[in-house]
Amino acid sequence: MPVTIKSAREIELMRAAGKILGKVHQDLGKALKPGMTTLEIDRIGEEMIRSYGCIPSFKNYQGYPASVCVSVNDEVVHGIPSQKRVIREGDIVSLDIGVIYKGYHSDAARTHGIGEISSNARRLILHTRECFFAGMYYAVAGRHLHQISAAVYDCARGYGYGVVRDLVGHGIGSHLHEEPEVPNFRKRTRGVRLCPGMTFAVEPMINEGTGRVRWRKNGWTVVTCDHRLSAHYENTILITKGKPEILSITEDEVSSGIWTPEGEA
Ligand code: MF3
Ligand code: CO
Repeated sequence: MPVTIKSAREIELMRAAGKILGKVHQDLGKALKPGMTTLEIDRIGEEMIRSYGCIPSFKNYQGYPASVCVSVNDEVVHGIPSQKRVIREGDIVSLDIGVIYKGYHSDAARTHGIGEISSNARRLILHTRECFFAGMYYAVAGRHLHQISAAVYDCARGYGYGVVRDLVGHGIGSHLHEEPEVPNFRKRTRGVRLCPGMTFAVEPMINEGTGRVRWRKNGWTVVTCDHRLSAHYENTILITKGKPEILSITEDEVSSGIWTPEGEA
C-alpha cells in the first residue's frame, strides 16, 4: 500500500484520537508512583482510554497482551505489564500507548522519571524529546522524509547517545502501522516527498550507551545490550504546508516551552 494522503474527515478523526491520547499520557504520567506495578499502570491506562470511548490499539496486536507498553530503565520498548514488576524511585519508565477513535489511530510515547532520578537519566529523557523536535523542523511539505530521520539522528549523536536502528517509526491512519517506515537514522535515500495530509508516528528510541538492542525471550521486550538506560518519545504528526501539527500532544506540554515552532523552518 502506498503512502496515503488523509482526507479532511480522516484528519478530523485523527485530531480527535490524538487529543485523547495526549490527555491519557498526561493523566497516566501524573498517576505514576513508586511501589506501583507495571500491570497496575496498564490497567489504569486502559481504563482511561476506554473512558474516552477509544479502543486500546496495542491490545492483542500480533498477540501483544496489554494496552500500554511499560518499559523500565534498560527496557527500550514493548515491556509487558506484570504484577511482579514494581517501579521504584529513581527508575525511568517509558509508556507507549495507541488508541483508536472511530476507526482512526494515534500512537505516542513518553518517558517519565519516578521521584528523584539521576541527572544522566533526566538529561536522556529531555534530549530524547529534543531529538523528536529536531526532526520536526524538517517535517514540512516539500522536504523529504529522511531529512526528519537525519535531524533526529544528528541531535542524538551530538549528545553522544546511541540510536536504536532495529525499530523505526511508521505511517499511521486507519491502521496502526502504515507505509512508510520512519527511521531515526541517516539513510542513503531521500525517502518520500512530504505532502500535506500525510500522517506519521515519529518515535526516537535513544540510549545512554550503545544503540544495540536485543529481544527478551518473551519475544516482545527490547532491552539495551549494555543494560544502560533508554528513553522513548513519540507523537503522531500531520504534515501541512507550514509547521507540522503534532496531533498527540497537549496544550500544556506545548506551552511548557519545549518547542519553538518559530525557529528555523
Ligand atoms: N509504538 C509502537 C509501534 O508503533 C507500539 C507497538 S506495540 C504493540 O510499533 F504491542 F502494538 F505491538
Ligand atoms: Co509507533
